[in-house]
Amino acid sequence: MTGTTHSQYGHGALIACDRLVRIYQAEGIEVQALQGLDLTVDKGELTALVGASGSGKSTLMNILAGLDVPTAGSVRVDGHDLAGMSARQRLAYRRSTVGFIWQQTGRNLLPYLTGAQNVELPMRLAGVSGQARRSRCAQLLEALGVAHCGPRRPDQMSGGEQQRVAIGVAIANSPSVLLADEPTGELDSVTAATVLGSLRTANSELGVTVLIVTHDPAVSSMVRRVIAIRDGRTSTETLRAAAGDGTGDDLGHAVEYAVLDRAGRLQLPREMTEALGMRDRVRLEQNPDHIGVWADSANGSEASGNEANGNEANGNGHAASLDSASQDSASQDTAEGAK
Ligand SMILES: Nc1ncnc2c1ncn2[C@@H]1O[C@H](COP(=O)(O)OP(=O)(O)OP(=O)(O)O)[C@@H](O)[C@H]1O
Ligand SMILES: [Mg+2]
Repeated sequence: MTGTTHSQYGHGALIACDRLVRIYQAEGIEVQALQGLDLTVDKGELTALVGASGSGKSTLMNILAGLDVPTAGSVRVDGHDLAGMSARQRLAYRRSTVGFIWQQTGRNLLPYLTGAQNVELPMRLAGVSGQARRSRCAQLLEALGVAHCGPRRPDQMSGGEQQRVAIGVAIANSPSVLLADEPTGELDSVTAATVLGSLRTANSELGVTVLIVTHDPAVSSMVRRVIAIRDGRTSTETLRAAAGDGTGDDLGHAVEYAVLDRAGRLQLPREMTEALGMRDRVRLEQNPDHIGVWADSANGSEASGNEANGNEANGNGHAASLDSASQDSASQDTAEGAK
């Protein structure tokens, strides 16, 4: 998935957000919740979205869910242009293309219906026959590990069971995308793991593309792709190499990437720039396989940056390096050009 071509932005992706902006007006004060966010998600991915409180995660999820509209920018999900939909199209989109799970367990299920009735409800609304509903419902509850919750009402289920039944409700009509905004936020870590297991089942066995917002490091360490949102934009991405049998239980080591947006902007992690005294401007140098970034010498401190620089053994300090693709650059750029 790392090799996805981005020559045409979002081409072929299931989800493509292009310079997405969402500005809230609250009592005359403008809040820029999304500030030109770019994001693509391919069909079949299981992705976690992380970021500080207020960074815009829920705002993005609500837009993807068709519950809110962007102020500017474009967003496509499975061929639907979400910025330009009518109310009727939006309703159809919510019924058939996306499934949504809220953090609050009580918000996902109707309290007076059993688990099975909850899962069958969206199919009933979509006009699926009784026989087909019952068999799909049984299949889903079984796959999600909550077959025993079929005859129970939500108040007879644990929080984790409610969330797993909620996954069944959300994917009953085979949506292309399942969106979960902190689905384990109210659960203890053991229960959270079972819910995550069901989300992974939905992804791997039932073929749903899944996007999970989470604060839980355990969740983000269990998925292959983690996207960090900072100040309303995607900032970094961590990809874990899949190891072994592909169930994802034994994910390999993680590599963190900075997100390069359409305009060529990227955000350098603050830890890195501060360690090298970088601010205001940096000097760039193109190399055959990477781009070198140096603190402006007029600005930076005299501290040596060598140990903060994993890739370059130059004597200049203040350097970060942006490798083009893999880490296998054999060339030890000595950056003769610096200063
Ligand atoms: N309806 C609204 N009206 C005004 N401002 C809003 C509204 N919803 C969100 N915001 C603001 O937009 C920004 C992004 O909010 P959002 O809920 O997307 O953050 P979040 O990343 O989901 O945070 P958390 O991790 O706390 O759930 C915040 O500054 C928030 O105060
Ligand atoms: Mg939120």
